Amino acid sequence: MCGIIGYTGRRPAGPIVIDGLKRLEYRGYDSAGIALLDGDHELYVARSVGKLDRLDAHVEGTLPPAVAGIGHTRWATHGEPSDANAHPHLDPSGRVAIIHNGIVENFETLRARFTDRGATFLSATDSEVIAHIVAEQLEASGDLVEALRLTTLQLEGAHAIVAVATDEPGRLVAARVGNAGGVVVGFGDGESFIASDLAALLPNTRRVAFLDPGEIADVRADGVAFIDGEGRAIEKAVKTQPYDPVAAVKGRYKHFMLKEIYEQPETALDAVRGRYLPDLARVSLGDEFPFDAERVRRIRRVILIAMGTSMHAAMVGRHYIERLARIPAEIDNAAEFRYRQPVIDDETLVVSVAQSGETVDTLWAMEEARAAGCPQLTVCNTPGAQSTRVADGTLLMRAGPEIAVASTKTMLGSMIALHALALHLGRVRGTLDEAVEAEQVAAALRAPAAIGQALLLEPRIAQLASRYAQREDFLFLGRGLSLPVALEGALKLKEVSYIHAEGYPAGEMKHGPIALIDENVPTVALALDDGLRDKMRSNIEQLKARRGPVIAIVSAGDHSLDGVADDVIELPPIDPLLSPLVSVLPMQLLAYHIAVERGADVDQPRNLAKTVTVE
Ligand code: M6R
Repeated sequence: MCGIIGYTGRRPAGPIVIDGLKRLEYRGYDSAGIALLDGDHELYVARSVGKLDRLDAHVEGTLPPAVAGIGHTRWATHGEPSDANAHPHLDPSGRVAIIHNGIVENFETLRARFTDRGATFLSATDSEVIAHIVAEQLEASGDLVEALRLTTLQLEGAHAIVAVATDEPGRLVAARVGNAGGVVVGFGDGESFIASDLAALLPNTRRVAFLDPGEIADVRADGVAFIDGEGRAIEKAVKTQPYDPVAAVKGRYKHFMLKEIYEQPETALDAVRGRYLPDLARVSLGDEFPFDAERVRRIRRVILIAMGTSMHAAMVGRHYIERLARIPAEIDNAAEFRYRQPVIDDETLVVSVAQSGETVDTLWAMEEARAAGCPQLTVCNTPGAQSTRVADGTLLMRAGPEIAVASTKTMLGSMIALHALALHLGRVRGTLDEAVEAEQVAAALRAPAAIGQALLLEPRIAQLASRYAQREDFLFLGRGLSLPVALEGALKLKEVSYIHAEGYPAGEMKHGPIALIDENVPTVALALDDGLRDKMRSNIEQLKARRGPVIAIVSAGDHSLDGVADDVIELPPIDPLLSPLVSVLPMQLLAYHIAVERGADVDQPRNLAKTVTVE
């Protein structure tokens, strides 16, 4: 979850580290801190609880002309957000400073070893002990790389760590242990970088290498050496990444979340481009799909795994795979999948969905699938992320950088990628009618325009938001393809406005949740004309009979709920199978506007982090 940045090179390190932290703040904003090394072996450390602007103000005018530095934004796991618990952490002599992402599961035992000898700890974190161990190992071995390598062998759990020592001011050493989020090394001209995310490096360099679990990078201004967990030198491929400087700035929008909602017509265009072929009336996944026809025919079922919004996209994908490819498909919460000893084998296709490609729950579930010999695909928004390295093939979401913590456009990109995958599987297995494929291809190519039209609903939704902003509970109901959208509506509202919201299959409502309903609890009911609308209408009548306000989301031209629901939002026309691509927009806009009405911090909601790298 935490953001990590490091720099060594010819330019003053301080401003580069601070600038990198600004790009990483979405990973955690409980506190931030930096450690800078100058050529005279002096260590400058600054830490501040709260968001990065507090640290920025704290260090203003005081940054030394450092040759190297490290910085950290924290998402608290052990120890409350405070100055003392902010990283970097130092060993008692001040010789070593470390930043850490992950959880040291055996930190109490490790700490006791030092406290028994009289050492004191200044924080309540699990991370501080790492600095003590690195210093101990450095004393013994005299080499920072070896010291960090030996340290990692003592730590239980998964970690990304960067260590610096005053003995060698221009050197950063980074280790990745297990699936605790990425570590990416950047190669510049007379300078080198280290970070938890690519986004923090791209303004400075596009030439990068990703650490795999168990690897260590010895980073100096004039070059980087890599070793494996046994201390053997290894070669890493350096890749050049694309960079779009415009995508990472807010532009005319007040918040990244709104900007990213508005980027969805473009996301849809990018997601269909080259995959949906109008001339041939079919999809083509090209290199994204690594399995031959014989392998595809051997698949007996598909399991989709993901967390949060990506899991809601996966739920939509499950419908696509069952309806279009006729393969039994299941959806599982990745954190549950890992621990329930799933019955899977090499005839089970596992499809993970992860915007970041670094979500630890999803990565561990993928490891489980790998151990069972399952063929794997991942739908991911981050080229080069760990999930793309575990899976046999990657379908990119093609959404560009998503900065707001609440996901929007990546869900859209995922749903389109999964629709294309289902069509591909259906054709290869001979279970998809050619005419249906042609119809779906044409419908997908019209989707970007429909998504653009759905954005025109914003003023109407902003009015609803101001009417309902002060309610404390919300219900979201849907059936079939609208159920994942209802769940997503509830998740978005919780995340950004802190209103208690529940998403339910509409049929389940009368089995319990209806007890919540009175005139103060509004329901958003997705009642699209998809064969289930009349069932939804009955559910809406049941809500109205209990005086619950209802906002109904309906298909284009459907007036059957006028006068039944309190408000009726009509979507633009779209093929029923693709309806989640447009029906999710009112969910996103409602959550956004309610959060703005309530004065919430839309882009950085409390307690959350964009990339979840701890269990
Ligand atoms: O990077 P991932 O797609 O794996 O992330 C999964 C969830 O953590 C993520 O979707 C989370 O629920 C978002 N904050 C939702 O807006």
